[in-house]
Amino acid sequence: MERPTFYITTPIYYPSDNLHIGHTYCTVAADAMARFKRNTGFDVMFLTGTDEHGQKIEKKASDAGMTPKEYVDMIVGNIKELWKLMNISNDDFIRTTDERHEKAVQKIFQKLYDKGDIYKGEYEGWYCTPCESFWLDRQLVDGKCPDCGRPVQRAKEESYFFRLSKYAPRLIELIQNNPEFIQPVSRANEMLQNFLLPGLEDLAVSRTSFKWGIPVPFDDKHVIYVWVDALSNYITALGYTSDNDELYRKYWPADIHLVGKEIIRFHTIIWPAMLMALDLPLPKQVYGHGWVIMDGGKMSKSKGNVVDPVRLAARYGVDALRYFLLRDMPLGQDSQFSNEILINRINSDLANNLGNLMSRSIAMNMKYFDGIVGRSGAYVPEEDDPILEKARELPSQIEELMDGMRLADALAKIFEYANALNKYIDVTAPWILAKDEDKKDRLKEVMYNLLEGLRIIGVAINPFLPETSEKMRQQLNVSEDHFDWASILSYGNLPEGTELVKGDPLFPRIDVEKELKELETLSAEVQGPKKAPVKDEITYDEFMKMDLRAAKVVNAETVKKSDKLLKLTVDMGDETRTIVSGIRSKYSAEEMIGKTIVIVANLKPVKLMGIESQGMILAVGDEEVKGLLTIDGEFEPGDMVH
Ligand code: ME8
Ligand code: MG
Repeated sequence: MERPTFYITTPIYYPSDNLHIGHTYCTVAADAMARFKRNTGFDVMFLTGTDEHGQKIEKKASDAGMTPKEYVDMIVGNIKELWKLMNISNDDFIRTTDERHEKAVQKIFQKLYDKGDIYKGEYEGWYCTPCESFWLDRQLVDGKCPDCGRPVQRAKEESYFFRLSKYAPRLIELIQNNPEFIQPVSRANEMLQNFLLPGLEDLAVSRTSFKWGIPVPFDDKHVIYVWVDALSNYITALGYTSDNDELYRKYWPADIHLVGKEIIRFHTIIWPAMLMALDLPLPKQVYGHGWVIMDGGKMSKSKGNVVDPVRLAARYGVDALRYFLLRDMPLGQDSQFSNEILINRINSDLANNLGNLMSRSIAMNMKYFDGIVGRSGAYVPEEDDPILEKARELPSQIEELMDGMRLADALAKIFEYANALNKYIDVTAPWILAKDEDKKDRLKEVMYNLLEGLRIIGVAINPFLPETSEKMRQQLNVSEDHFDWASILSYGNLPEGTELVKGDPLFPRIDVEKELKELETLSAEVQGPKKAPVKDEITYDEFMKMDLRAAKVVNAETVKKSDKLLKLTVDMGDETRTIVSGIRSKYSAEEMIGKTIVIVANLKPVKLMGIESQGMILAVGDEEVKGLLTIDGEFEPGDMVH
C-alpha cells in the first residue's frame, strides 16, 4: 500500500553567523514534526539547508580575506555539525551553491522569462544590505528598513522584474479562501492589510551591483535576486526541472513550510506568485513561528545576545535542550529564554517527573519481582481507571495536537500522563502492598500499569526526545516492534516476562543555585577573554630587524565595500605613504586625521581591496582594535622608535 507523504521544510539558513538557539528552535520543531509523521506511518521528506548567495556574504568573505565559496564552505560545515549534534533527521540538505540547485534556478528564471512574467526595466528605491531587501519609500519606517531598523541606501540599477502585481488578485483570493494556508491565522490578516490590499509592485529579481549569485542565464551581467534563488530550494531539492524529478512528483506540494515570522511575507506572497507563474501547485501551509527572545529582543548576533546551542547541549544534554525549546516555546508566539527557565524546566519535568518515575518504577519492580514484568489482572477501578483512561486517550490527543502544530501542548499532555503515574504511585503505595503476601497480585498489576505507562511515554516522546526514548526502550528491554506508534494504540503491549535492565537516571537533577553561579562565572570568562599567550621568543637581532617609525596621519578615507578598512596617508618626514588598516570599527576617518602614530616601516607591501598598503600601524587589542599607539614627548614624523 502507498503510504501518504508528508513534506516539511525549514528555511534555508544564511551561513553568515554561527547559528544560535533561535535557529535551533525552528529546526528542532521541524524535526519533531518529521519524526512524528514518520512514526505515524507517513512517507516523510524533511528538508533543510543553507542560503549562500548575496551581497552580504560576498562582503563578509572579502572582509575575512576569503573567496565567497571558501567562506561558505567553512561555515556550512559547522551548521551540518550542529544539526548532527541536535539529532536532526533531515532527509536532504540543500545548499544554494549546489550545482543541482543553480542549474534548476536558471531554468526556473528562464521559464518565467519565456512566459513573459519577467521583463527588463530599471529600479530605484531603497536597499537594506543586511536583509537583502528592496524597499519603497512608503514601506520605510522612520526612513529605516522596516524589518531590521537599520539604515537603507538609495539604489538604482538596470534590473529584470517579475510581474508580481499581476498575481495580486489570485494571492488575495488564496489567502482569503484558505484559512489553512497561513498559520497562525493572525498572520494572514497582516499579509492582507500590510502588503496585498495596498497593492503589489513588480519585483526586481536581478542585480548587477555584485557578482556572488546565480547568473541570469540569458544576461550574465545580472545575478538572480537571492530570494528567488532561495525560495526555489523547496523544489530544486526535489529535482524539479532535472532529469530525475521523481521526488518532486512524489512530495510536491509541501505540507508545511515552517518559517520565522519575519519571512512569512516572502513565503506567502513571492513564493506562491512564482509557483502560480510556473503553473505549479502551491504549498498547503506556511507556518510562521515566533522568536526566541532575550531581554525583550530577538536573539541576534549583532545585538550580542545569542545563546550557543552547542554549549547548552554539552552542559545539559541534547534532549534537555530539545525539550526546553519544544515545551517552553509555543510555536506561534515569541518566548523568552533564560538560563533559569531552562534549568527549572529540566528539573521539574525531566528530572523530577519523568526521570523519577522511571527510576522509581524500575527499582521497585527489581525489588519486588526481580525485574520481571508480570500482569495479574487485579484491578481496582477507582485507582486504575483514571490512568488507564489517560493512557488510552493519549495517542489520539497527540495526533490531533501535532496536526495543529501544537507541539508544546502535545508534550504537555505526555508529561501530564507521567505526572498522573507518579500520583498513582502515591495512591497505590506499592511499598505497603509489598508487606502483605495477599496483596502480591495487586502489586504486580500496579507495577504493570507503571511499566506499561513508561513504555507508552517512551514511544510518545520519541519525536521530541529521541535519545531519551531509546534509553527508556533499553531499560524496559523491549524490541523495536513493541515500541512503535502502533504498539501504543492499544493498552497492554508490554510483554509479560520482559526482564528490565537497570540504567542510569534519565536526567540528573541540577542544583539551581550552584548552576546559576557557575553559569555566571562562565559567561564572565567569555566576556573577559584570557590574554593571548606570549609568542615564541626572538633574539635581539631579530627584533632589531623591525623598523618602527613615528608618523603623522595627513589624510584618511573609508575603503569602499569594506566596513573595517580605512585608507590612511601618513607623513614620515622624507616620504608619505599609504597604509590600509582595519581600525574602522574603532576610529572614523575624520578622527584619524592629525593623529601621530607608530608604524612598522619595513613590512613588505600588501594589497588590500585593491589598494597597496605600505606598512602597518601599531594598535592594541588582539582581534578587535581597542586603541592605537601614540607617542609622548617632542618628535618629528619619520623619527625611529626603539
Ligand atoms: O531568513 N528565534 O535566514 P536566517 C526564532 N535565508 N527563530 C529565529 C531567531 C530567533 N531568535 N533568529 C532567527 C533567512 N530565526 C533566509 C531564509 S528561506 C527560503 C530563506 C529563524 O538564517 C528565522 O526566523 O536569517 C528564520 O526562519 C530562520 O531562523 C532562518 O533565518
Ligand atoms: Mg533573518
